Amino acid sequence: MAEDGATSGPLIAPYLATEPSVVMQALELATVGPEDRLLDLGSGDGRFCVAACQQYDAAAAVGVELDPILVERSAAAAQRCGVGDRARFLAADFTSPGFDPAPLCPGHPAQAFTVVVAFLLPEAEARFTGLLVNLAARGARVLTIVFQLERGGGLQLRGRAGNYVFLYSAAPETG
Ligand SMILES: C[S@@+](CC[C@H](N)C(=O)[O-])C[C@H]1O[C@@H](n2cnc3c(N)ncnc32)[C@H](O)[C@@H]1O
Repeated sequence: MAEDGATSGPLIAPYLATEPSVVMQALELATVGPEDRLLDLGSGDGRFCVAACQQYDAAAAVGVELDPILVERSAAAAQRCGVGDRARFLAADFTSPGFDPAPLCPGHPAQAFTVVVAFLLPEAEARFTGLLVNLAARGARVLTIVFQLERGGGLQLRGRAGNYVFLYSAAPETG
């Protein structure tokens, strides 16, 4: 662990799957629908991306995941659920220097991600909040699962569902 309690390697949260009922709560809180392009940072077995496309008819979903075995499992799940053409998965470290998710969005540069999911370790928040703020500044609604952002300058809390799901969007500019 790093001095501030955050992890120091690329893995900034272990694999832990969100309960299906919480996935639905989150996607409903963010009112995901056919206009949406969702990005899951640390997508695990791909359940957010698959559910967004299969159950909420999202236009596209992209999962970025460090573990290539989970990426394979996610792609297989998307195929099995009939959304392999809209849900895509990439084995990558989103904390690596220069990582920019924007070009991963289908239709880029005209289109940007509209919903971003982060179920990560709050102790490592300093390592990914900047990315969330950038995506929100380009128009995305941001869902955090299990934890509420402590360093969310640039983001404003818009809603919550139960104890585990928080919804943010870009904070209005001041001054
Ligand atoms: C708590 S799990 C959440 C999985 C999924 N989003 C869900 O809600 O079911 C966090 C995931 O993030 C992945 N992860 C952690 N650090 C990462 C990084 N730097 N780049 C890409 N994926 C990462 C882990 O491998 C793990 O699968």
